[in-house]
Amino acid sequence: MKTVSISKAVEKYKQDNIIFVIAFDEKNKRPSGMVAGWTTICSADPYMLAVALWKKGYTHKLIHGTKEFVVAVSNKKLKKAIDVFGGQRGDKVDKFKLSKVASVPAKLVKPPLLSAATINLECKLVKEITTGDHILFIGKIVAAHIDENIILSK
Ligand SMILES: Cc1cc2nc3c(=O)[nH]c(=O)nc-3n(C[C@H](O)[C@H](O)[C@H](O)COP(=O)(O)O)c2cc1C
Repeated sequence: MKTVSISKAVEKYKQDNIIFVIAFDEKNKRPSGMVAGWTTICSADPYMLAVALWKKGYTHKLIHGTKEFVVAVSNKKLKKAIDVFGGQRGDKVDKFKLSKVASVPAKLVKPPLLSAATINLECKLVKEITTGDHILFIGKIVAAHIDENIILSK
């Protein structure tokens, strides 16, 4: 995992990425998160990213509270973690323990990076927009990391 310029990471970011949205659960004192497909880069100056999170899920409540999240781009190595993070509820299980997914501390936010992710983007929440049954979370990207050995794939 190499720390790179935000512009370099954004250049590699595909709008059809399947991503992990990682947040920190202060109540349970552990990181948690979920899988999301509804996501896009939505500003270049400053670099920002938007992700649509279902109102009935758990992760968005954590981000609403802490105002920080990490977006980690998935790949084949994270297949098992996708099942756990995309199918379980973070208030019921410890998804990091259950999936045994490896993580490393982020530089500027409390939620960790996923070691095997293709790209990790550290984000600070700037805006929440309620759409219908989802809430659009818009984050300013404050640090970026890439695994340059992994070919970008879903
Ligand atoms: C491939 C895939 C894409 C998904 N995309 C989204 C999405 O864009 N937004 C969303 O709210 N949930 C999405 N989900 C569902 C959540 O990941 C799932 O409901 C998760 O269990 C929520 O966990 P939480 O309640 O701990 O937040 C997706 C799941 C999968 C497997």
